[in-house]
Amino acid sequence: QDTSTTSPSGANSAVRNALENAPTTHARLLAWVREVADLTEPDQLVWVDGSEAEWTRLTDEMVEAGTLVRLAEDKFPNSFAAFSDPEDVARVEEQTFICSQEERGAGPTNNWMDPQEMKATLRDLYRGSMHGRTMHVIPFVMGSLEATDPKFGVEVTDSPYVVCSMRIMATIGSAVLEKMTATDAFFVEALHSLGFPLDDGQADVPWPCNETKYIVQFPEDRAIWSYGSGYGGNALLGKKCYALRIASAIAHDEGWLAEHMLVLKITDPQDRAHYVAGAFPSACGKTNFAMIEPTIEGWKAEMVGDDIAWMRFDDAGTLRVVNPEAGLFGVAPGTGWSTNPNAMRAVAKGNTIFTNVALTDDGGVWWEGMTDEVPAHLTDWRGRSWTPASKNPAAHPNSRFCTPIKQVDILAPEYDDPDGVPLSAIIFGGRRKTTVPLVHESFDWEHGVFEGATLSSETTAAASGAVGVVRRDPMAMLPFIGYNAGDYLAHWVKLGKAHAGHMPTIFYVNWFRRDRDGAFAWPGFGENSRVLKWIVGRLEGEAQGEQTPIGIVPRPEDLDLTGLDISDQQLGDALKVDVEEWRRELPGIHQWFNVLHDSLPPEMVRQYHRLEVRLEV
Ligand code: GDP
Ligand code: PGA
Ligand code: MN
Repeated sequence: QDTSTTSPSGANSAVRNALENAPTTHARLLAWVREVADLTEPDQLVWVDGSEAEWTRLTDEMVEAGTLVRLAEDKFPNSFAAFSDPEDVARVEEQTFICSQEERGAGPTNNWMDPQEMKATLRDLYRGSMHGRTMHVIPFVMGSLEATDPKFGVEVTDSPYVVCSMRIMATIGSAVLEKMTATDAFFVEALHSLGFPLDDGQADVPWPCNETKYIVQFPEDRAIWSYGSGYGGNALLGKKCYALRIASAIAHDEGWLAEHMLVLKITDPQDRAHYVAGAFPSACGKTNFAMIEPTIEGWKAEMVGDDIAWMRFDDAGTLRVVNPEAGLFGVAPGTGWSTNPNAMRAVAKGNTIFTNVALTDDGGVWWEGMTDEVPAHLTDWRGRSWTPASKNPAAHPNSRFCTPIKQVDILAPEYDDPDGVPLSAIIFGGRRKTTVPLVHESFDWEHGVFEGATLSSETTAAASGAVGVVRRDPMAMLPFIGYNAGDYLAHWVKLGKAHAGHMPTIFYVNWFRRDRDGAFAWPGFGENSRVLKWIVGRLEGEAQGEQTPIGIVPRPEDLDLTGLDISDQQLGDALKVDVEEWRRELPGIHQWFNVLHDSLPPEMVRQYHRLEVRLEV
């Protein structure tokens, strides 16, 4: 297919005009945008500049169209609520594909289709899919524009909601395009369409989308094609699609890591600072932990990132980490003044888009867990009148706030340092009612990788499908590994060998274990600072613990419990390592390793056998 910039375009005059007056001379970009416009047939084409004026114009238009509700200026300035189609509320893992050239490249944990076949299928869907709509071209960069090798992308989308959300989540617009053009830089092509074309005169709906959905990554092309959904992880293509799936494939080729991790800075009363990263599956506590407000005297926590971490070794061999994002796309329910005051303060500054939360009668928002007191009347996320007697939750369990990271009061000043921050520890964590203790330390890097590789968690509302089912989620990356999962584990093992002596210590936490009464055994949230203190104590060679078959676990006396209201029994329930429970874990791990089959690194088999020996099976 001829995609040269001089080829005649079948587009209408408005689109042709926008192509001819493009604010860039980047040949590959111009050719690609023209090709997409020819395929999707939009009415208009807009080069997104990222300005405040553009945000105001787009949000005004969306309010007019009924896509957004403007919130009361005195409560949430410059903020809006969006309500999705009830079928478009979460990531769709069953419709997410890694279309590598070879099936092995995606497998065995990803959906795969031959890339040519997939492109043919999707071209049929994209044909005319932007009819009656405006195609927005969003130049963006993940991470710093000042990085040595900035990671550029361009998202083409027919959704103004996506444009405004991307403006919060990434650095977008004119400055990005200028640098991309000046350096003739490589960029990731990220194509997004709602799949809801409008016939001439056809009225629009507040949340256009399509029953047919595809979230497709082409790792060799470094390209993303997304169709049919307007929801965050499916549509804000810089986030999970680029910064995790495509970036993990790039990282594998280049010897670094793109991970599903929060990063925080913890400073002790002696002013010693450590940076730690935490990999927890979606809706398992990353954002909350990243914004922790310590409950222990003299300890200070600052946030670097809440969802994604890019980690590279510097010339001195130190593993350094950057947060590639510029915003938070956080789970609303459970976020409240008592659990995550830092998030509440950030959204209260405004400039925020809420999705699928409930509306209060005075122009504010509410969700389960936001306040102890439940409002007497709300409009729920489906637009229905709601009272505390209503059967359904007022906000969708996966409702979200999308807010600029700069509004976080406890943001570490070095959060956007292009060189990143040096990493002391990696913490894996999942959501398990049983078996997994509050915290433990792995014996060494290889054992820690095994712990990450066998991470297990109960499924949540962040992805469509059943909730509460235990599944293996390696490094919390199961839905985000852009290549073969066995090769991914081998990459972790290999980096540990190549950089021995420089690797962070690996810990494992579980905030979600239940006590014998079925309640959370550990109070969580700010009290997790006590766990952080133990972790820092271990790093500094100061804290003690007990050797168990799964790792080193603190005894009650090893934790700072000053001022904590917890019974001995609950603490025991939180910290317990029950050998019988762990023996029952083994078949599940075995089964998971069988799925990986011949791509499973031998080091993981060795670690499995060592665990068996320690459990005396
Ligand atoms: P993320 O998707 O990994 O960023 O997860 P979030 O931090 O948004 O948390 C997801 C859900 O888990 C929210 O409902 C939180 O209130 C809840 N959560 C987070 N941390 C804790 C904790 O320490 N204890 C308990 N019980 N719940 C938590
Ligand atoms: P998260 O992912 O639950 O890990 O925050 C959200 C998404 O779907 O983008
Ligand atoms: Mn989050």
